[in-house]
Amino acid sequence: MPVIVKNRFLLLYGSQTGQAKAIAEEIADRCVEQGLHADVICLSQTEKKFNIERESSAVFILSTTGEGDPPDTAAKFVRRLKKKTLPDGYLSQLNFTILGLGDTNYTNFCNCPKGLNQRLLELGAHHFYPPGWADDAVGLEVVVEPWIDNLWEPLKKHQMNGFGGETTVTIDKTNISESIMDSGSDTSVIKPVELNTNMNSNGNVIVEIDNSDIGVNQTVTVASLTESIPPLSTIGLNLPTLPPPYIHLQYNTDNILFPSAASEIKSVPITSATVLTSPDAVKKTLKLSIGIQDSKITYEPGDSISVICPNSTEEVDSILKRLDISDEADCEVNLSIIPETTKRKPTIPLYIPESCTLRYIFTTCIDIREPPKKALLRAFVEYTDNPTEKRRLQELCSKQGASDYAQFIREKNLSILDILTAFQSCHPAVSSLIEHTSRLKPRPYSACSAPCINKNSLSFVFNVIEIPEGEGRCCGRQGVCTGWLDKLTESIQRSYNKQSLETELESLSLSSSIQIPIYCRNNQHFRPPTDLSRRVVFIGPGTGVAPFIGFLAHRQHQRQLVDKDTTYGDTWLFYGCRHPNKDFLFEEELERYKETGVLTKLCVSVSRDPDVLDKPKYVQDYILQEINSIYDILIDDTSLIYVCGDAKNMAKNVNEVFMKILKIKKGMTDDEAKAFIMTMRLHKRYFEDVWT
Ligand SMILES: Cc1cc2nc3c(=O)[nH]c(=O)nc-3n(C[C@H](O)[C@H](O)[C@H](O)COP(=O)(O)OP(=O)(O)OC[C@H]3O[C@@H](n4cnc5c(N)ncnc54)[C@H](O)[C@@H]3O)c2cc1C
Ligand SMILES: Cc1cc2nc3c(=O)[nH]c(=O)nc-3n(C[C@H](O)[C@H](O)[C@H](O)COP(=O)(O)O)c2cc1C
Repeated sequence: MPVIVKNRFLLLYGSQTGQAKAIAEEIADRCVEQGLHADVICLSQTEKKFNIERESSAVFILSTTGEGDPPDTAAKFVRRLKKKTLPDGYLSQLNFTILGLGDTNYTNFCNCPKGLNQRLLELGAHHFYPPGWADDAVGLEVVVEPWIDNLWEPLKKHQMNGFGGETTVTIDKTNISESIMDSGSDTSVIKPVELNTNMNSNGNVIVEIDNSDIGVNQTVTVASLTESIPPLSTIGLNLPTLPPPYIHLQYNTDNILFPSAASEIKSVPITSATVLTSPDAVKKTLKLSIGIQDSKITYEPGDSISVICPNSTEEVDSILKRLDISDEADCEVNLSIIPETTKRKPTIPLYIPESCTLRYIFTTCIDIREPPKKALLRAFVEYTDNPTEKRRLQELCSKQGASDYAQFIREKNLSILDILTAFQSCHPAVSSLIEHTSRLKPRPYSACSAPCINKNSLSFVFNVIEIPEGEGRCCGRQGVCTGWLDKLTESIQRSYNKQSLETELESLSLSSSIQIPIYCRNNQHFRPPTDLSRRVVFIGPGTGVAPFIGFLAHRQHQRQLVDKDTTYGDTWLFYGCRHPNKDFLFEEELERYKETGVLTKLCVSVSRDPDVLDKPKYVQDYILQEINSIYDILIDDTSLIYVCGDAKNMAKNVNEVFMKILKIKKGMTDDEAKAFIMTMRLHKRYFEDVWT
């Protein structure tokens, strides 16, 4: 029946990979017990489902992507508000707060949400609650959880001051507390909770402990994934509310099938697979070429493709076995919403077909590697028999156990299987796993080829990730995507040799039976310069060199098109490897570009070869060695700097070395040097394409 819901506010999210969306949904779920109602809307729906000019209250959950850019879905909204023509006071009716998601491994931490926050204030909007900036490098939950816990008070106060909106929604009254429809009330909905528990004002459950039941082990002196030490092992805990189950699985045992996912993704053939490293290299690096002619994919140097990869067959088998569902794994299973669920707006995730098999779901739909979220651990508690294990799971998902969760689960990158192996008495319902895992995400790879050389082929390069057993991991494993691609191409892999370029062209004509699903993503900024006279510095150690191989091929082609008198700006590449004889990627191509003058200077640093004494260890060391030339480049308004590869260390170190050079050569202070690099970024002279 349609009812008027008061205490309504707008919960707007902008998300690139789904985390901001998941947090928005969590907030909306928790609103119910707070007597509030959130309209959860993606920012892409601006002017369709909401008009910010007409709203009195909004909560934004917004992430950052690229080089401090808005997620694709938020770009239009952000652009609209940036317009200089908007008058002061344009949003003076709006009261808001914002939770920004970012990662301090990237230079512009939370740049997009911070920018939006600033702009909303400039346009006259007011905070009713301070913004929060969550950092994926240390775990979003460190900021997100307390931020949500403390949101309710100010939000309710603000709503009670008459800012809460009204909306007419169709609600099944049996599923929802009367308090939601009572505008003034801020009563929490008290849910049935387990014995020995109370609920606090944040809707969290306080668990009272009974040591005789859990058999506290007095001999444990060091905490681990499965065991804790005092004070955590002896105190009361604040557990997150038990998320209401909402998915019902129904097996249809007569019908065994394996559905294929319907999608707009293109399936392309792998036409060659080249191992770029020697067999004794620390990491194996593979270059794959794909045929894109039939798929009609077009790309430019700087673009990346995203590979849709499945989880490993062995890992899926192990999980199905551990869940004791191997026999049902290939039956058709129908997913439906539990009619009496108390979950707000329950939906079957769009990436899971309503009818498919469990093997299909575990193989292609859900991320079985991501460290289990606290909500999943909370659900596991209900399915764990052993009291000691139950208590430890409670600790790991509780407020008090936050640092143990970070230390033993997130930082070790443990997977669902690791947790189920460590907690043997836990026998969760399959549906709870589906409810609390994220979508298996495609993995992006930068193109290392140039369409001007061959528009029918695209190449990319990657290290095969090897993660050893130990530190809580129940077995060794490869990266999901790189391990899959490695196994998939095993039979066509050949080693890199002097004829590689020629043989690759030959192999392109052979049609390959190995197909992979991909899509292409355009890069807005990371493009080779169109003006050949500009000086450029490329910095890309390891697989970070990938886009520059495409850039150099593109530059060579450009040079052939212009007349001989054209000035050609110096082109430098800072590259780094461990051992030049084992993992110098694209050595032959780079030497060739040097010989032909496409590359003016090739600076190779070597990090782990004791026989190489005359080379700097890291790219930043080499950059510092070239201090005078690099300083000239930095202060020349027309020259460009591109950095690609590891965001955690390399990109930061490179940024710092440029600052150091400015400090040494120009006597700048730290702040001045920082501002100088920031201006270079703003003026599109300093580009990054980095990943963690
Ligand atoms: C825009 C963009 C472009 C990219 N371009 C490239 C590219 O050109 N080439 C490239 O190689 N990659 C690139 N990447 C990264 C790439 O998308 C994948 O993230 C990477 O290949 C790993 O994928 P995977 O599925 O094999 O590993 P996953 O299964 O996702 O595993 C990776 C995780 O394992 C962890 N891990 C790794 N080693 C260990 C260890 N020893 N112990 C414990 N944990 C460990 C890492 O911390 C990481 O969290 C790019 C990323 C982006 C966002
Ligand atoms: C390709 C890429 C680029 C990113 N760039 C930035 C950045 O410039 N600044 C930042 O603070 N975080 C950056 N991040 C981190 C994300 O904002 C962070 O992981 C966030 O939790 C993602 O939320 P979402 O899944 O809702 O998009 C980047 C992440 C990726 C994968």
